[in-house]
Amino acid sequence: MNPHRILPLLLFLTALYFCPNLTAIDYKSEIHPILNKKCFKCHSGPRSKGKLRMDSESYFSKRIGGDKPLIIPGDPASSVLLIKASMPRSNDDAMPPPPARERGAEAMTSSELQLIKQWIAAGASFKPGASTTETTANPSEPETEKVFHTWTNTEGKSLEAAFLGVEGANVQLEGRNGKVISYPIQNLSEKSKELGRELLQKRQ
Ligand code: HEC
Repeated sequence: MNPHRILPLLLFLTALYFCPNLTAIDYKSEIHPILNKKCFKCHSGPRSKGKLRMDSESYFSKRIGGDKPLIIPGDPASSVLLIKASMPRSNDDAMPPPPARERGAEAMTSSELQLIKQWIAAGASFKPGASTTETTANPSEPETEKVFHTWTNTEGKSLEAAFLGVEGANVQLEGRNGKVISYPIQNLSEKSKELGRELLQKRQ
């Protein structure tokens, strides 16, 4: 293949690779119904428990980001709302609270929790279709074994690293020490460019 064609091809393949994974999460149609079913009984209206009102976007949004956030946009793992909703019923801090669960209040299912997680990861926006996220990246799945390759640049220097992907005109590599390296594709040797293209293709 003509080497000058590889870069545009790489970029094209990257676009193909990332686009199908972008899924919009809509607050109104996907998140609101879950909260309505599982949380509004106690967290709606002026007498909301724990002063947490989720039915009103203006009240709810005050707890998204800011001072005492229950949701940290982009960071589901640190978002109290998700943490509490994910706790087992044996935990006193779980939501709905354990005594209410005894009386039949249902906790979120794992697929509901997954949606909330994606919504938070994508920025916890109320705007329709405003948030996008990668659905293939499932952190609960065990990480696949990293494969290290030898990469060489146009000056003949080489490096052992695992292929993470391509971003813009750079290839993202992870060295043996776990360090992520963003390296311009144009500075790679022809052989390494070819390797990157193959690895990218394998992921389709
Ligand atoms: C049966 C009533 C009930 C239900 C249902 C319920 N909660 Fe609560 N929630 C409470 C009470 C009572 C408090 C205040 C005491 C506490 O924090 O434990 C509270 C507090 C909270 C807090 C802490 C508020 C703060 O400012 O620190 C969060 C977060 C929360 N609930 C999330 C949820 C989520 C998410 C759901 C739905 C899965 C839910 N709750 C369902 C009763 C309920």
